[in-house]
Amino acid sequence: MASFSTLLVLSSVFLLTVLFIILFFLLHRRNPSLHLPPGTTGLPLLGETLRMITAYRSGRPEPFVDDRLRLYGCRLFTTHLFGELTVFSADPDFNRLVLAGEGRTFESSYPSCISTLLGRRSLLLMKGALHKRMHSLTLTRFASPQAIRSSLLPGIDQLIRLNLRSWGGSVRLLDQAKKVAFEMMVEQTMSEGPGEWTEYLRRHYNALIDGFFSVPLFAFLRFTTYGRAIKARKKVAEALMELVKRRKEEKMRETEDEAESRKKDMVDELLEADEGFSEEEMVDFLLALLVAGHETTPIMMTLAVKFLTDNPSALALVKEEQKEIRGRKKDELEALEWSDYKAMPFTQCVVNETLRVANIISGVFRRSVADVHYKGYIIPKGCKVFASFRAVHLDENYFDDARTFNPWRWLDQNNMRKDGSQQAGGAPTFTPFGGGQRLCPGYELGRVEVSVFLHYLVTCFSWEVAEKDKLVFFPTTRMLKGYPIHVQCHRSL
Ligand SMILES: *[C@@H]1O[C@H](CO)[C@@H](O)[C@H](O)[C@H]1NC(C)=O
Repeated sequence: MASFSTLLVLSSVFLLTVLFIILFFLLHRRNPSLHLPPGTTGLPLLGETLRMITAYRSGRPEPFVDDRLRLYGCRLFTTHLFGELTVFSADPDFNRLVLAGEGRTFESSYPSCISTLLGRRSLLLMKGALHKRMHSLTLTRFASPQAIRSSLLPGIDQLIRLNLRSWGGSVRLLDQAKKVAFEMMVEQTMSEGPGEWTEYLRRHYNALIDGFFSVPLFAFLRFTTYGRAIKARKKVAEALMELVKRRKEEKMRETEDEAESRKKDMVDELLEADEGFSEEEMVDFLLALLVAGHETTPIMMTLAVKFLTDNPSALALVKEEQKEIRGRKKDELEALEWSDYKAMPFTQCVVNETLRVANIISGVFRRSVADVHYKGYIIPKGCKVFASFRAVHLDENYFDDARTFNPWRWLDQNNMRKDGSQQAGGAPTFTPFGGGQRLCPGYELGRVEVSVFLHYLVTCFSWEVAEKDKLVFFPTTRMLKGYPIHVQCHRSL
């Protein structure tokens, strides 16, 4: 009997050992190369995903990165996120390599559920020559001072005032900012003003976005949201398709004089493009622009207000600067102009500092399309890479007192090495809009929108926080409750 139970124990021990060995090899199977940056792949399948999500949800994501950088003594580490081995970079030099190597050594890579929702032809997922063309088209329309001055800024000014006019009592700042940003994007790309159609589009768009941000990992748990999102995408696409078809017809009927005198928008650009884009391509592209404008700028607006509220001395300076601009206007209700936008140095510091401490896009996912050699490591072809901008923005090596909101740091241009956008060796350390061929085409437009918004907010309103709220970074950077505030209007606008 005794020997039998001994045998049983021994064989279980043996079995367990074998199991462990198999498990060990399974776990480390995907990390065979000694040349990858150091790291661990965590639990099977889940990897370090849960740990990362917990950190980014907590409002204090830094330890996740800090701990690993300290442990491995290296600015690159290997981890396992969203079902895949991933090289995480907190290294500005490597990030530059990733951004500059677009199409040659790296390409953008997002999970398939995202492409289903956005459309395969969205700017985010486009590659090669087509991406280049669309990207430059967007840049010309959205980033040239010419375009902003003559056609974008007047529209932005008007829409922000129109929206702010109805403010009073309690508002959830993020929701309101989103509404404004959506209307701005619809007007700027399709020349449709705020109204029934825009609201219809916005309702379905919001359902789509809910699905978009139901994390890929949990998509199967939240299939209802995802399913609803797919349905919403159909509605949004149908509405945009109708618009494209209508505009196409109008264009054919239009005389040359009419075409000359009318203000052109993105739909015109698409319809006139030499490539002859298909209607589906145009729809995907317009949808991508909506996403790009709606999921970023409103958060920037909200966070700028949050940081200013938390820093009364910075707020006082912004107020002073904006009141001076308003004071120079002959007519109290005169719109802001390009020269006004260019005369807000401190407000621009606030915008930069907001982007630095709470960059909306904390980094970008890429996949290597060739073996990449870097500082003695090899990132093999096909490897997932996350280039974190946030990790660099919040690094003491590049910014003094990096974790503190301090807009004044941007005033001191002599201090550019440690506090500015350039490292001694050359790679940029401040990349809120990415860089290279995929530089965010809205980098200037976003700044303009936030600046105009701040102008009217601080010159016409006072406000106080209505409810305690929390800044989180997953699945997106945002205020958990949308930053509810009480506002009081002091001046008509
Ligand atoms: C803000 O950052 C940009 C880089 O994105 C830089 O060119 C600009 O000079 C900065 N603004 C200020 C006021 O420092």
